[in-house]
Amino acid sequence: MQLTPYAAGGFGAEVSGLDLSEPLSADDADRLRGALDRYRLLVFRGQELTPEAQVRFARSFGTVAPPEPSAGLSTHSEAVPELQWLSYLRADGSEPSDRRPSQADVWHTDYAYLPDPAGLACLFGVEIPEDGPDTLFADMQGAYDALDPDRRSELRELRAIHQQRGGLDPALYRLPPYLGPGQPDDGSAQRQAAHPLVRCHPASGRHGLYMAQCYTIGIEGMAEAAAKALVAALYAHATQQRFLHRHVWRRGDLLVWDNLATNHRRSKPLDRPRVLHRVTMRRKGAEA
Ligand code: SIN
Repeated sequence: MQLTPYAAGGFGAEVSGLDLSEPLSADDADRLRGALDRYRLLVFRGQELTPEAQVRFARSFGTVAPPEPSAGLSTHSEAVPELQWLSYLRADGSEPSDRRPSQADVWHTDYAYLPDPAGLACLFGVEIPEDGPDTLFADMQGAYDALDPDRRSELRELRAIHQQRGGLDPALYRLPPYLGPGQPDDGSAQRQAAHPLVRCHPASGRHGLYMAQCYTIGIEGMAEAAAKALVAALYAHATQQRFLHRHVWRRGDLLVWDNLATNHRRSKPLDRPRVLHRVTMRRKGAEA
């Protein structure tokens, strides 16, 4: 197995020399967990993975967590319920009637609105259109490290509030709840949780900004306008080119990332068939 870091700053690495359709050795699994803590985003190219093999691979990093509802979700596989299809087309193969962008089109860390979000995710490219969208990743630890020390201390005192429906404009974005015909609203899109705005990584001990443009609706004890301005300023900082990695998808790519240390988004809204398979994991040792 070879690891090729993408950037001098150590954000993201490509891993080669592994066939993930076969079970990983204990030694390789251990090295991959260490590499993920260090690089926060791992990319494997040219894989042929069944849903079962992807879930098995995901289990090398921890416990597989149940998927949350998501726009662009066509179905869960009956046979492999842990795996979520992110598809442009609906389950019956028809074009979506609502083509507004979704929460995946703005910067986010997955499931921040849960009290104990599963921290890792893996995404496999099944059907990839030629001209994107790509997936952009932001290094939220690198962005935090680049702030001046006084600013870092101030931010470490704050807690951000995140909600599943969040604060994007519903006239412009497709937002939860994602209800099927006749399905009642159970209020779950109002779920919210507060987390420190700066989180310490349990394995590496590095600090990173923890926020999501689509979910973060406030900062505890701060007026709404001031909280919005703070989150906007932090995003202007964290999404500078020097903190970003752009993944240009090919069929057979598998990505694993750490949601405590990164944000991600699509580079442009989906407007053509594309299928990704997603599995979410709770890191080993962090099981509830
Ligand atoms: C996601 O937010 O997990 C999906 C990213 C993508 O569709 O490129």
